[in-house]
Amino acid sequence: MTKPNDYVLGQSECAARRLAIQDIHFADVSEKLLDELALRPNDRVVEFGCGAGSFSKRILRRLGKGGVLVGIDSGEGLLKQAESSLADLGPARFEPVLADVAKLGDWLDGADVVTARIMLHHIPMVELVLGRLRAALKPGTRVGFLEPDFRTPLGRLAYLEATGRPGLAPLRVWAFAINQLYLAIRISPECGATLARTLAAAGYQNVREHWSETRSGPETVENMLMFYDEVRERLVSLGILTAAEIAEQQRLLRALNVEGLPPAWGIYRVTCEV
Ligand SMILES: C[S@@+](CC[C@H](N)C(=O)[O-])C[C@H]1O[C@@H](n2cnc3c(N)ncnc32)[C@H](O)[C@@H]1O
Repeated sequence: MTKPNDYVLGQSECAARRLAIQDIHFADVSEKLLDELALRPNDRVVEFGCGAGSFSKRILRRLGKGGVLVGIDSGEGLLKQAESSLADLGPARFEPVLADVAKLGDWLDGADVVTARIMLHHIPMVELVLGRLRAALKPGTRVGFLEPDFRTPLGRLAYLEATGRPGLAPLRVWAFAINQLYLAIRISPECGATLARTLAAAGYQNVREHWSETRSGPETVENMLMFYDEVRERLVSLGILTAAEIAEQQRLLRALNVEGLPPAWGIYRVTCEV
């Protein structure tokens, strides 16, 4: 069984670079989520799975002197990188906490806002955590999440591939690999699809859901290449792809003309209140 702190992707500077590329990919939707959460200067914001801090930076920019961002992460390497890159950002304070989000802790006390970007799917059966989270928060807490969708765009990709664009295969294979990997280690790759209903069932108020696709650009392809580098051994040991197949997929990705590539990722944006 996967331990909660066995984050499947990396902890290195390379992993932090992949997350920074992801931040560019998700820039617009990240700002929209923060608009919807209506951050106030003195808010105490708790961010689940802050990683190396690229979404945290966007949050901190919206807080004032009395504001606090509590960044929770179970990965020491990424959390340290967040701490050093956010230390002097000011005027709000960044408080890093090394913890497993799924266990919920006293770091939630007094939260005005709870948020996470591209993180919830790393928690096995995350629905249980979301239900318990509501019980731990004060009434009125604003809650908002971004979650990836690696599956819906496959409908279009498969159609295009079947009707004259075989060159799109590496996008399909990448989506297949990431889904298979997350399923094999029993995390929740499609929790975004049912997130709004989960939150409503847990009794959160005013649940709003939005879905959009993200443009495929050079950073999308670079993210895919880096994903293969980070999880190569795991994909091989789980029998998802061989090392030779991964090398071939990386070659095909590098050869892609990014102009006119269809989206390979969707994203769910869900907000609500306690
Ligand atoms: C895909 S990264 C996203 C990082 C960041 N939210 C961003 O958007 O740049 C997921 C992060 O969640 C963290 N994580 C995964 N499972 C966790 C858990 N159970 N508790 C706390 N952090 C966790 C990982 O260490 C990693 O930093």
